[in-house]
Amino acid sequence: MKKETRFETEVIHSGYDSKEYKGSLAPPIFQTSTYVFENARQGERRFCGEEEGYIYTRLGNPTVKMLEDRVAVMEKAEAALAFSSGMAAVSATLFALTKTGDHILCSQGVYGCTFGLLEMMESKFNITHQFLAMSSKEQIEQAIRPETACIYIETPINPTMQLIDLEMVASVAREKGIPVVVDNTFCSPYLQKPLELGCDIVIHSATKYLCGHGDVIAGLVAGKSEWIKEVSMTTQKDIGGVLSPFDAWLLLRGIKTLPVRLDRHCQSAEIIAEKLCAHPSVDEVFYPGLRTHQGYEIMKKQMKKGGGLISFTIKGTKEEAQDFLDRLNLIKIAVSLGDAETLIQHPATMTHAVVPKEAREEMGISDQLIRLSVGLEAWEDIWSDLEAALNGLK
Ligand SMILES: Cc1ncc(COP(=O)(O)O)c(C=O)c1O
Repeated sequence: MKKETRFETEVIHSGYDSKEYKGSLAPPIFQTSTYVFENARQGERRFCGEEEGYIYTRLGNPTVKMLEDRVAVMEKAEAALAFSSGMAAVSATLFALTKTGDHILCSQGVYGCTFGLLEMMESKFNITHQFLAMSSKEQIEQAIRPETACIYIETPINPTMQLIDLEMVASVAREKGIPVVVDNTFCSPYLQKPLELGCDIVIHSATKYLCGHGDVIAGLVAGKSEWIKEVSMTTQKDIGGVLSPFDAWLLLRGIKTLPVRLDRHCQSAEIIAEKLCAHPSVDEVFYPGLRTHQGYEIMKKQMKKGGGLISFTIKGTKEEAQDFLDRLNLIKIAVSLGDAETLIQHPATMTHAVVPKEAREEMGISDQLIRLSVGLEAWEDIWSDLEAALNGLK
């Protein structure tokens, strides 16, 4: 029997066995679009599913499969499926779960393009959605309709950092037989494992912490084998947002250091969140690791640590918020997160610019809100850059 190993070991070894690849320590990149059949009848058997084996890289690739197997282990899922972007993963999942006339119950905030996708699904296909705080069982029970096809959650929510109790949502959904989908991008499986809390499907923008180096756009979905197989043979195969073998290889490499990186991200974020709270030009700080945070008790229950992202509001106008960003030197103005470099952005005019102002304000995204992805630099250097730029607000 295979010995159970810890997460820090799984991120390095799972999904790949060097013995199967001539002893190569690093996994090989199967940079091929197609696979040669031994004869015509083998081609027929592969196409009709009578024989296991690769056909064409849009339908499967060995390097991509290594990544999928590793992420499935990390998320404690039966299987996982890789996509060409986080949005390819979100859209393939939502299209697989819904049909015309259905309804999606969604957390009070979501990433801007997920909002755009939900709007598009509503206007084009009459698949409606409703945003909900999901702060109690009763509130969720009342919002569920006969046509509710799934519950879609981000926790922490991008960019407001509010938390939702996943175990609570999963218990309501289970009673009603509705699948719960969780976008786990902000945490990664190192900090939070939604499937262990009773949720059904996990999504990642693997572009972020899983990759960790700012050089790949990728997505992942994890869940039950049967459902993953269905997505792979329907919305993924026919819409076609598959990951390239080289990007899968970069992800396999990045994932090896995920726990080490996240420990540092979290440690520095905790210090910087405290310092931001004490700065006179900062109004509010939203960081799950702060005792004052709305979801601090939820964080302790379902997350290992507070994470590497902090949002905060400055005392000032939209223009002053933009001038504050422009005064930074070390910290880069950019809309990704989870990279070695500390990144900062202004959600109202960047990641959530597609959300109409009224809806944005309902989600808690004001013109004063700033999102900071704390990188791997020395926290003292990150803070000194922030402090100097904040001091300019006075
Ligand atoms: C929470 C969340 N989900 C999904 C996405 C989309 O991922 P991608 O940019 O890899 O398509 C993002 C991107 O920022 C995100 O922050």
